[in-house]
Amino acid sequence: MRFSVKGFEIHSGFLNIEAQRAVLDAVRGVVAKAPFFRPNTPSGKPMSVRMSAAGKYGWFSDRNGYRYVSQHPDGTPWPAIPAEVLEIWHGLTGLERQPECCLINYYGPDAKLGLHQDRDEADMRWPVVSVSLGDDGLFRMGNVTRGGKTESHWLRSGDVVVMGGDARLAYHGVDRIRAGSSTLLPKGGRLNLTLRVVE
Ligand code: SIN
Ligand code: MN
Repeated sequence: MRFSVKGFEIHSGFLNIEAQRAVLDAVRGVVAKAPFFRPNTPSGKPMSVRMSAAGKYGWFSDRNGYRYVSQHPDGTPWPAIPAEVLEIWHGLTGLERQPECCLINYYGPDAKLGLHQDRDEADMRWPVVSVSLGDDGLFRMGNVTRGGKTESHWLRSGDVVVMGGDARLAYHGVDRIRAGSSTLLPKGGRLNLTLRVVE
């Protein structure tokens, strides 16, 4: 156990290189239809992480706050969540319930994601499953309340994390990317997919 918050499971190397390539190809198919965009924070600053999504909902943010939306900013519905990605969800959670959102984050060499809770979903009893591809990312996790001690762990390509239990509402973020640490993405950077039950 690399984090002391209960309910945080790291499955290091869960996806072998062939599986990583298959998921990457599926993500490319999604992004061809729903191109990456850069949301603004509610205070109006562009985020450094670029985002897209698959499923009934995608996550979005602007001056009106954080929320799930049923369309890409270009006005088209999000593509379906690829079967390869749903297989990871079912394999690790054993749940029949399908996630309704696969958020796709892309981190260039200087991107980061500040400490936050995932709390825009209706029912926090469902876990969040996160798949990392490409460059290593330094993941940080704190507690269910802001402040206090945090712990960090480098997530690598093929690692899959399940955040359930106490970890479901724990503050977390990505401090930095180790540029050039993986050759999976030809142009470098890190992709992270998070599968969420939204409704
Ligand atoms: C997220 O919190 O939405 C993404 C976490 C990650 O990139 O590992
Ligand atoms: Mn999050």
